[in-house]
Amino acid sequence: MRVLGIETSCDETGIAVYDDLQGLLSHQLYSQIKLHADYGGVVPELASRDHIRKVIPLIQQAMAESNSTPADIDAVVYTAGPGLVGALLVGATTGRALAMAWGKPAVAVHHMEGHLLAPMLEDPAPEFPFLALLVSGGHTLIVRVDGIGEYQIMGESIDDAAGEAFDKTAKLMGLDYPGGPRLSKLATQGTPGRFTFPRPMTDRPGLDMSFSGLKTFAANTIADNGNDEQTQADIALAFEQAVVDTLIIKCRRALDETGFKRLVIAGGVSANQRLRAQLGDLMHSRGGQVYYPRTEFCTDNGAMIAYAGMQRFKAGQTQGLSIGATPRWPLDQLPPLSR
Ligand code: KG4
Ligand code: ZN
Repeated sequence: MRVLGIETSCDETGIAVYDDLQGLLSHQLYSQIKLHADYGGVVPELASRDHIRKVIPLIQQAMAESNSTPADIDAVVYTAGPGLVGALLVGATTGRALAMAWGKPAVAVHHMEGHLLAPMLEDPAPEFPFLALLVSGGHTLIVRVDGIGEYQIMGESIDDAAGEAFDKTAKLMGLDYPGGPRLSKLATQGTPGRFTFPRPMTDRPGLDMSFSGLKTFAANTIADNGNDEQTQADIALAFEQAVVDTLIIKCRRALDETGFKRLVIAGGVSANQRLRAQLGDLMHSRGGQVYYPRTEFCTDNGAMIAYAGMQRFKAGQTQGLSIGATPRWPLDQLPPLSR
């Protein structure tokens, strides 16, 4: 069976063709980063317009690269949420309309389920059950995963997401959007120990997190010490280490609670090398293993949506004729695969 996957929830147009026997046959990605950089963040209206320009040409490329005709496609799957509603609508209406024109079913996919299942495209893929740390620009979640659609949210950020904290702190430092990867690069030049940022909400029990205070701490540190190149790098390192430590402390607690030996990290911030290395050490010390997607599938992409959509399609969970666009959609409201 073969699906065409469409992702347009934020600032990346991602298209993929996934075959359940042959694997990923094509994935196309267009990032709008340059478009939004001048504004220091994603401008929803511009994002929607750019998706409109790119979605059809990228679908044509993916169909051609995978040697697929519409007759080869068994379902069209698209991100229905969470995300920016105008951006979501581009993928949702395109996906729903193509499915109708081709006489195939459509499947509405949850963006965070896409991220969560992205490591399934790698070898070895994690087996269920596992703990998942989902760290993106919009969400920070610690999830107990017993199977597809069997998600228990154990902890989450009560304010800014980890990626959002990276981006806001980077912006304060004068770095271009999206600041996360830039700040992280700068941190490699930082002096260890010059600054120490707090590890929010780690002094009390529980798995919830808070990252909004870190940007204020960064602003105060800049006000007191200036923003020269070395100070910037030192702040970047102290900030990054605080986020990573906080995530590690919370993951360790969740691993203690569940007894799980497998940890999945996914979402944009899972591209962060320090986070990967330190979570790798943590799992190694516990006799377990960490799993993450290849770097290009950490941030938004069509492949993860095609994969997640295929699992839902095979379980018969298709969408009917309505157009699914759900800007707010809690992950733990998804049905289990078997139901
Ligand atoms: O998953 P994603 O592409 O979009 C959402 O679904 O939100 O995540 C984007 C986020 C941005 O905040 C970006 O700054 C962050 O992931 N990010 C990173 C790194 N690469 C991307 N943050 C820290 N270190 C990185 N290497
Ligand atoms: Zn995402």
